[in-house]
Amino acid sequence: MSILSRFLRRDKTEWATGVTDGATPPDALTIEPMRRAHLPEILPIELTAYPQPWSQGVFQDELAMQARGSRHYLVAKLAGRIVGYGGMIYMDTAAHITNVAVDVAMRRRGIATELMLDLAWEARRAGMASLTLEVRESNVSAQSLYRRFGFAPVGVRAKYYENRDDAIVMWCTDIQSEAYEARLQTIEAERGSDS
Ligand SMILES: CC(C)(COP(=O)(O)OP(=O)(O)OC[C@H]1O[C@@H](n2cnc3c(N)ncnc32)[C@H](O)[C@@H]1OP(=O)(O)O)[C@@H](O)C(=O)NCCC(=O)NCCS
Repeated sequence: MSILSRFLRRDKTEWATGVTDGATPPDALTIEPMRRAHLPEILPIELTAYPQPWSQGVFQDELAMQARGSRHYLVAKLAGRIVGYGGMIYMDTAAHITNVAVDVAMRRRGIATELMLDLAWEARRAGMASLTLEVRESNVSAQSLYRRFGFAPVGVRAKYYENRDDAIVMWCTDIQSEAYEARLQTIEAERGSDS
């Protein structure tokens, strides 16, 4: 990530938390840590995103574990409204992406890409060697997103979803490498300006 990009991203976060230099436009996308207070906005998105959505209790449990350091969950806000979220579990040397979802009306604008960028940078910062996840075999849009981030399919979990649909297991290895840093920088450069 370029220094300029990193500063812009920090400015966006500062704007989201009310501490801003005044340079970030109020309609900028901001990424910030997920909190329990966000759940009323998250749950309606979750309900439309998955056939078997997480309950409020699952999110609360994940946030409790985030407080202990074994999880990292983020929300993306546009004009103060939550438009997406995502997160991961730290497992030994791999970060397992557990959830990435975007408001159906706000898809295809790069919001999941922003969330994935922050998760990938954060996993590197936390010293993880790899990223991994499961994705429904029919979910080609998510698979395309993950391939861009260097994930490759390594196996199938049969009937993983609702005891019916197969899951593709994807891994992205060597995330501490310079090559992976360059990949993230390329994605940042391709997505255009930060603001
Ligand atoms: C998957 C999901 C998170 C993508 O969110 P998004 O904000 O629309 O994604 P982005 O705009 O950042 O798209 C990034 C890339 O993903 C791929 N992609 C995203 N949506 C796609 C679609 N409908 N068809 C094909 N490719 C798609 C494309 O490669 C896209 O890049 P491009 O727009 O430059 O072609 C969103 O569709 C979603 O919430 N789905 C329901 C929940 C879900 O399935 N989550 C994944 C669980 S494993």
